[in-house]
Amino acid sequence: MATMTENQIEGLSESFTREEYNSQEIFNDEMQKIYGTNWCFAGLCESLNKIGDRLVVDIGSESILILRNRESELRAYYNVCQHRGSNLCDTSGSGFGAAITCPYHSWSYSLEGALVATPLHEKDSIDRETLHLKSVQVDHWQGCIFVSLDPNAKPLLEWLDAHYSRPRELEKFEMNSLVNARTTVDEVSANWKVLAENYSECLHCAVVHPELVDLVPIYKTGKTIQDDREDWGASLAPGKTSLSHNQNETLALLPAMEGLDEYSVFGAFVYPNMLIDISPTVAVLTRYVPRSPTHTTIFTDYLFPKSVVNDKSLDLEPTISFSDMVNRQDIAVCERVQRGVASRSFIRAYHTKMERYCHQLIRRYRSEIN
Ligand code: FES
Ligand SMILES: [Fe+2]
Repeated sequence: MATMTENQIEGLSESFTREEYNSQEIFNDEMQKIYGTNWCFAGLCESLNKIGDRLVVDIGSESILILRNRESELRAYYNVCQHRGSNLCDTSGSGFGAAITCPYHSWSYSLEGALVATPLHEKDSIDRETLHLKSVQVDHWQGCIFVSLDPNAKPLLEWLDAHYSRPRELEKFEMNSLVNARTTVDEVSANWKVLAENYSECLHCAVVHPELVDLVPIYKTGKTIQDDREDWGASLAPGKTSLSHNQNETLALLPAMEGLDEYSVFGAFVYPNMLIDISPTVAVLTRYVPRSPTHTTIFTDYLFPKSVVNDKSLDLEPTISFSDMVNRQDIAVCERVQRGVASRSFIRAYHTKMERYCHQLIRRYRSEIN
């Protein structure tokens, strides 16, 4: 195997190796040390409106059940029955009522995770107190639910503040006031780090996203942030008003967009599994769910102001399909990369100096995985 010294190349720094893109063992380690310790984006608060609504999400290698208790606070549990270990719920949804009933022997749990019924057994014949559902940390920010499997995780806001992408600067767009108009699901044949690296650089933008760089000229240069702007925004081309196939639309702007001098876009990677893309009329939230070293499910939510979603005369399709097109272009190149990095000829990837957010990504990854 080549040594680090042999691989050092002028102008390049080392990225992930073939093994890190393909090995099941390394993937398992990532699920423990990265997805098992960080806060992970798990879904939208609006999907848990009523008592009995449920979100079933995979966080790392664990299935997690998220719901609201009677006080409307979020609760999250390992999706595991304390009797013989069956998963309790298979799917997210509503209308389940205030008990969580196991589909195997019908043991039931309260929304607080207490075992409350064990059918066919005398009430006092089992010490139910000891068989509480195992809870995990759950919190929310800007209408987004986050879960941490680490019982000692630092508070969510503190954790967010530690991100190099400064996600909290996007709070001015009040994502918690927006409403989800659509969720798309993509099954992608690529490692989650291939997707994260792809999001972290724009060297590919001019080649892969011709329609996008026409709307956001700075992206043609490979940069995502304009040197002349301190707010991390990127200006739309003169005369352009939104990231949409239709530039003449009348959709309301997101909060705080009105106050900007120029129509602009903003983005943040919330390591390890969330992308936030803010543009004048839509906030696009992306969630990675790694399934295997070579497979990731991507959930994408398209959030608009409530007045826009409620006005059925408005056509959101040109806006949603524009982002979806960009998403599809990214997926195609990431799957292409995954096929390449599986080659026995491939040793490791490299980053140039312009891929500085990839450096940040790999630095954080190494600090957690080693
Ligand atoms: S495994 Fe859940 S009730 Fe038996
Ligand atoms: Fe891209």
